Amino acid sequence: MITKIDHLGIAVPSLDQAVPYYEKALGLKCERREEVASQKVRTAFFTVGQIHLELLEPTSPESPIARFLEKNPAGGIHHIAFGTDDIQSQLRQASGAGVKLIDEKPFAGAGGKRVAFLHPKSTFGVLTELCEGETNH
Ligand code: CO
Repeated sequence: MITKIDHLGIAVPSLDQAVPYYEKALGLKCERREEVASQKVRTAFFTVGQIHLELLEPTSPESPIARFLEKNPAGGIHHIAFGTDDIQSQLRQASGAGVKLIDEKPFAGAGGKRVAFLHPKSTFGVLTELCEGETNH
C-alpha cells in the first residue's frame, strides 16, 4: 500500500549553489548530505512537514541526473517518490497494470531505503520512485 508522498527529487547543477537558496531564501535547514554511488549522485535532504526534498547533483556524466540536466540546465523536478509498506507487492501491482518498470527489483537508495523506479512512458511523464523503509540517520 502507498502510504505517503515520501519525497520530491529535484535535480540541481550544484548542491553548493542550490542548498543556500533553500536555507537562506526559504529558511529550511539541510539535514544531511549523502552520496549514492548506485545512482552516481550526491544528495542533500530537507524536510517540509511530512515530505522530504531530495536535491540531486550528478557525480558523473553517466548519471541519470546529468542527462536530465542536459535537457534542463537550470535544474528542475526530477521525480516523485511514493512511500510504501511493501515495495515488492507495489512493483507487482504496477507491472500487472501494464506499467513498464525501470527496476524489476528494489535497490539501496539514499538513507538506506529500498527503492525502484517506474518508467515515465508509463506514468504520464512523471518519473516515479517507490520507496520502502525509514531513513537511517
Ligand atoms: Co528519490
